[in-house]
Amino acid sequence: MSDLPTTPDFDSWPVTETVQTATLTEHGLRITWSDGRSSDHHVLLLRENSPDPVTTHPKAREMAIAPTDIADDVSITKAEILTSGAIRVTFSDGIETAYHPGWLFGAAWFGPEPTKPVVTWNATEQPEPPTFDGPVALKTPEVFLQWLEALRDYGVARLRNLPQQDGLLEQIVTMIGPIRESNFGRQYVLEIKDDPDSQAYTSGSLLQHIDLPTRELPFGLQFLYTRDNTTTGGEGIYVDAYRIAEDMRHAEPEHFQSLITDVWEYNNRARTSDYRGKGPVVETDANGALTGVRYNTFLRAPMKAPLDIQARAYKAYRAFCARAQDPSYQMKIRYEAGDFLAFDNRRALHGRAGYDAKGGSRFIEGIYADRDDLHSRIRTTKRQLRTKSTT
Ligand SMILES: [Fe+2]
Repeated sequence: MSDLPTTPDFDSWPVTETVQTATLTEHGLRITWSDGRSSDHHVLLLRENSPDPVTTHPKAREMAIAPTDIADDVSITKAEILTSGAIRVTFSDGIETAYHPGWLFGAAWFGPEPTKPVVTWNATEQPEPPTFDGPVALKTPEVFLQWLEALRDYGVARLRNLPQQDGLLEQIVTMIGPIRESNFGRQYVLEIKDDPDSQAYTSGSLLQHIDLPTRELPFGLQFLYTRDNTTTGGEGIYVDAYRIAEDMRHAEPEHFQSLITDVWEYNNRARTSDYRGKGPVVETDANGALTGVRYNTFLRAPMKAPLDIQARAYKAYRAFCARAQDPSYQMKIRYEAGDFLAFDNRRALHGRAGYDAKGGSRFIEGIYADRDDLHSRIRTTKRQLRTKSTT
């Protein structure tokens, strides 16, 4: 099917179903597919996504016309199935174009998509992060993709057995996407500082938290590369905040309501920066699905709100905190040299057991990035693997 038309994007569109019939309707085109289903395609959607070089920029493959360049009363005058499987459509404004059947199928509306339930975890179900061999993942796109998908689905995923190498942290993260710099630098080293601008730079224990709740949008991903660790203690403690939120949605609905409604402000405590961010502890979308958390006990600013709201917000926050500190929710892992841990900073709370700084050495580097880059890399890797398998 190499003679299929181009599409208004750079994606690959395997033809999983073929077009059986294409008929004109009042609003556009109805297609029946080889799996027996049918889909309706609006005339304006088809017209503005025409892959012709005037409508779609031939190099950028973005829309090259304005919606108002199309007549209000544009209609389809003819549709026919070509031997290649594409559909040729003629519009009333004279444009004649052909659509790739894989693209059309991908753009079809077959009713509400069943939402894939998020798999949440506790300490029993997920005592360790999904783990992959680092050197294998770095040279095998299929394994690299599995690691990325595990990070997306569980909020935490690990590579192991990596060499100790300067620049490797940045090299691996940029295989996913751009690094997001912060007031802690392009990358940071978890080390003990004489004048720490974060408790991370001490050997003390750290309560579960997300980083940078002080930002308008807290960073989506965090990566920790352990280059050396011979200290005792200092285990990483990870908690699936989505599991806590779902448990509270059912067991403590009043607290859950506060968590999704009452706004807390966070401010970083530093001599040379003053970031402030605010939002509810648990973020949800219009359907009530969880989209992120903003939880960090030690960077909360004083809440400015009527006392009754403060009272309910404190109750809910303390209830959330009690669960976050409950070992039944906590994945406790030791950082070994060569470990590369990735986690979703707006889902997987992280914390740390205190460690004995005099009892050995510890060298852990960190970098931030964003969720969007993870999702984009998953899609493009899948696209590349699809292309590879068909050539
Ligand atoms: Fe942190």
